Amino acid sequence: MAPLQICLLATMAMMVMAAPPLQVISYDQTVGGFNSAARGWNSFGLQANPNAAPSFSFNQASVQTQCDVLASNLAAGKYTYCSLDSGWSVDFNGDGYGRIIPNTDKFSDLPGLASHLHSKGLELGVYVVPGAFLADLDKTIYGTNTTIGSVCSGDEGLARCVFDYTQPAVQTWHDSVVNQFTEWGVDFIKLDFITPGSPNNGQNLPADQSASVVAFRKAIVQSGRQMRLDISWKLDRSATSFRIWNANADSMRTDQDLNNYNQNTLVAWGTVQRALENYRQWIVAGLQVFGETLNVRPDLDSLFVGNGESVSGVTEAQRQTLMTHWIGAGANLITGSDLTNLDSVGVGLLTNAEALRVADFTARYPMQPRNPGSGDQDPQQLQAWIAGPSVDGEAVVVLANYGPDQGDGGYGTSLSGEQTVSVSFEDLGMSGEYTVYDVWADKNITVSDGAISYDLDEGASALLYLTPS
Ligand SMILES: *[C@@H]1O[C@H](CO)[C@@H](O)[C@H](O)[C@H]1NC(C)=O
Ligand SMILES: *[C@@H]1O[C@H](CO)[C@@H](O)[C@H](O)[C@H]1NC(C)=O
Repeated sequence: MAPLQICLLATMAMMVMAAPPLQVISYDQTVGGFNSAARGWNSFGLQANPNAAPSFSFNQASVQTQCDVLASNLAAGKYTYCSLDSGWSVDFNGDGYGRIIPNTDKFSDLPGLASHLHSKGLELGVYVVPGAFLADLDKTIYGTNTTIGSVCSGDEGLARCVFDYTQPAVQTWHDSVVNQFTEWGVDFIKLDFITPGSPNNGQNLPADQSASVVAFRKAIVQSGRQMRLDISWKLDRSATSFRIWNANADSMRTDQDLNNYNQNTLVAWGTVQRALENYRQWIVAGLQVFGETLNVRPDLDSLFVGNGESVSGVTEAQRQTLMTHWIGAGANLITGSDLTNLDSVGVGLLTNAEALRVADFTARYPMQPRNPGSGDQDPQQLQAWIAGPSVDGEAVVVLANYGPDQGDGGYGTSLSGEQTVSVSFEDLGMSGEYTVYDVWADKNITVSDGAISYDLDEGASALLYLTPS
């Protein structure tokens, strides 16, 4: 072989080996005018797993007791949203105009709850699903002579009909619902069962309810009140859908529910593996669809880090990994823990000042995967992520050993026990010299041979803040 050919082959081999260039993605303001993801608490984990929190009942007094803790013990983390999930409203009908109303057996004074929360610097969230009630077909939409039944038909399986979103009166119905929320002092709307994406769980969901997201956004805009719109669950990530979510929602769920459903603990590690794999898919799709800038923030579902293992269902190291990844993603930090039963580890994770400084960073720059050894973006048991670098050259790096794949982790490998996770700056797509600060250990670490290395147990991770040195 001629020397030139050898030289060319060597160059080609190097090109195959070299990590792909890093395409930095950043978050811009959401459509609702928010520059960071929501932080707070949502009731659903405790509703769905009553054995995990026997003292909790889904009613006004119990919710208020939970949410008061946001203001008393977690104030350092600026956790403001107190979000009521499914079941706060009357299940099968609206008021005289078909508007959604509180179930007063559980929430006797919703405006009173909102005032109480506001007096403590907190905010109120409510839960809705698309469509009007089948029981309300004969009612007239507020401010019109149009009956609900003339613009809403069929049965989507949630005691509701399916709107014809081309009818102007349908927007008027949404406006009337949101205006009443405004009068009550609502600050956050979770809109569930949105398709394409939401799985059919015994419902009969129409293939595309994205118009509902647009209608709720328009209703929020006309109300004049700043409210977040969070859409759920496991929303479709095709370019067409993703652009609709990005243009109309402040946050979007990336996966199905995380909670254990009727178990003694709130979450299982295998489900967390699935959630992290769904975030990976989401941000890789986001890079493809949006390139440099994304507006909508990911909602990875409830952050079950506040309680000890007997309630949370995950170890301390795994809880730290949850916190690390929710922060890394710039995701909603909405805990589903029993706030009346927080342990010191949970309070530490939720209020750690340096971790929250990272959250301020990832509110601008979400983490994306960079496989150790290649810089690719595939699912891996031993994984690395990078957020940024920012214009100042700062970055956040996460290293993790997710443990043997329990089925939905996407990587399918099964390396048991402690593993060395090592990523080079080249793998990360970075060059230059950095001071590497380990957030949870609160110390600077040494970088040798252009790589960062950690020995990590199954489920453990490291959260690192890099500043150019
Ligand atoms: C509803 O009908 C009544 C009686 O015909 C009419 O006076 C009123 O203007 C109508 N309202 C609207 C909003 O169209
Ligand atoms: C880490 O290094 C930076 C830059 O040298 C320094 O400012 C900072 O105080 C160090 N932090 C710790 C915890 O040692």
